[in-house]
Amino acid sequence: MRPLTIVWSTDIHLDHLDPGAVHEYAARVVVAQPDALLLGGDISHATRLRDDLDRLAELVPLPIHFVLGNHDYYGGSVDAVRASVADLTGPPLGWLPVSGPVRLDDGLALVGHGGWGDTRNGDFARAPILSDYLAIEDLVGAAGRANVMAGLTDRDALRRRLDELGRDAARTLEPSLREAAAGSRHVIVLTHVPPFPEAAWHEGRPSTPPWQPGFSCRAIGDLLREVATAFPDRRFTVLCGHTHGEGHVEMAPNLEVFTAAADYGTARINLVRWDGEIPRIQFG
Ligand SMILES: [Fe+2]
Ligand SMILES: [Fe+2]
Repeated sequence: MRPLTIVWSTDIHLDHLDPGAVHEYAARVVVAQPDALLLGGDISHATRLRDDLDRLAELVPLPIHFVLGNHDYYGGSVDAVRASVADLTGPPLGWLPVSGPVRLDDGLALVGHGGWGDTRNGDFARAPILSDYLAIEDLVGAAGRANVMAGLTDRDALRRRLDELGRDAARTLEPSLREAAAGSRHVIVLTHVPPFPEAAWHEGRPSTPPWQPGFSCRAIGDLLREVATAFPDRRFTVLCGHTHGEGHVEMAPNLEVFTAAADYGTARINLVRWDGEIPRIQFG
């Protein structure tokens, strides 16, 4: 029997690709003959996200399951961007926070949420100012644009907002994750921000403490540890991106995290193959 094949791409940043490159990417996906396409966030920008998703669905005649990354909110607000995809409950396009658990195969479920760099890991006092704080309306509101430009953000207000976005992500994911674990022996968790500092790979090594606040989502990490402990006979494979570096880490005997590389201007294809036992990841 042919194993289930899934294409997993993250950080494709379609706003950095010309139309020809988008066609070429879609053609590479189709040639792999997958059963589904997973998009791990940083798909585009707020102003064109929905159009880019609809266009991709025309070019790739497959179920497309996706989560949002920080760049998908650039030029918009968190609520407005989420509202723009809230009707996408699947197929062909399924935004995982609203579509809930997806049964990919007998014994294999998919859940997801993009998460957020929630500042709770590492050293936020020494964290660099990220472009998120200038490009996402909610964060501009919390940090103050003039302050950000001067490098003098209201760090406490910003930290509280980012922390809340992380907690909201975990609260949204938790029911789906528990439902999937109760019903399937293996669960794939698609997210954008690495849930652990150990998975925040950048240029061949995990991120340093000043980068961890923006490059990891503690709230989802804590949830994953809790659910993996509660379901010791289930296995969890986490797929993430955001840091644009490739790596793999085992956080518990039944919990492993794959972080895929990315480059602006290139859309990579990674393969997930499932033969009924353990998903095998082949980085592209
Ligand atoms: Fe990215
Ligand atoms: Fe990102």
